[in-house]
Amino acid sequence: MTDTIAPRLALAKELAQEAGQLAQRMRAQQDGSFSREKGHQDFVTEADVAVETLIRQRIAAAFADDGLLGEEEGHSGSDNALWVVDPIDGTTNYMRGLADWGVSIAFCRDGRVELGVIYAPDLDLLVWARREQGAYIGENPARTAEGTPLDQAVLLLGRSARTSVDDYLSLLKRLIESGLEYRRNGSAAISLAAVALGQVDGFYEAHLNAWDAAAGLLIVEEAGGRSDCGDLDAFLSGGGPVFASAAGLHHEIGALLSVGAEAD
Ligand code: IPD
Ligand code: CA
Ligand code: CA
Ligand code: CA
Repeated sequence: MTDTIAPRLALAKELAQEAGQLAQRMRAQQDGSFSREKGHQDFVTEADVAVETLIRQRIAAAFADDGLLGEEEGHSGSDNALWVVDPIDGTTNYMRGLADWGVSIAFCRDGRVELGVIYAPDLDLLVWARREQGAYIGENPARTAEGTPLDQAVLLLGRSARTSVDDYLSLLKRLIESGLEYRRNGSAAISLAAVALGQVDGFYEAHLNAWDAAAGLLIVEEAGGRSDCGDLDAFLSGGGPVFASAAGLHHEIGALLSVGAEAD
């Protein structure tokens, strides 16, 4: 049987790097007046748009029948063979010269994520996975952390204006009381990559869109971790809560978050 995923994975890896380098060049050349605010603290730069356009053109040229869901230009084409693209995840970091931002590309076939690629140019980091074939950093296997007790664990968090302040504050209280440590880096994709690499033990955000997390969720699972985003079709159409962690802490952290654990 023809392997239809391998050529798409090769393109995704090449394209994520090319797109990330385009964004880096654009930032080096800009004069500081190149962004607009599309929502509260939600910015879009010329680079967000240029990167998504590049990715759309290159995918359409190689796989004309595939569909694409991207943050800046929305959904076009097929649902059965669907690319899910965040041209720049962590735009605020990108604009301010902070290193945690990257290009996130996933491909879904018949409602399953088959491949995911995250490229973070400022970190010189390429993390990717193919379903049932493992997760990798460059050419080396990526593995989630093992054996961390809850009171030594580090959880990354995200939050946007899409979710409740009170819920976030009560979550922080529960987390702090449990003894774990937490961080927030401003990029869901880089956070999920950090879980897959065992740099942290988990990541949670109350609402993400599919383009933020589709690639990272597969990468965490293929690195030996566990992930929850609910039903993929619903997640692709409206987003939802995202929780990913090392396998050993999934129940314990999931119980603190009140998500994930009850799914088992
Ligand atoms: C955002 C980042 C951020 C998360 C937000 C996302 P963007 O994506 O991933 O960390 O907290 O919910 O919207 O807008 O930088 O692509
Ligand atoms: Ca955005
Ligand atoms: Ca994003
Ligand atoms: Ca984005």
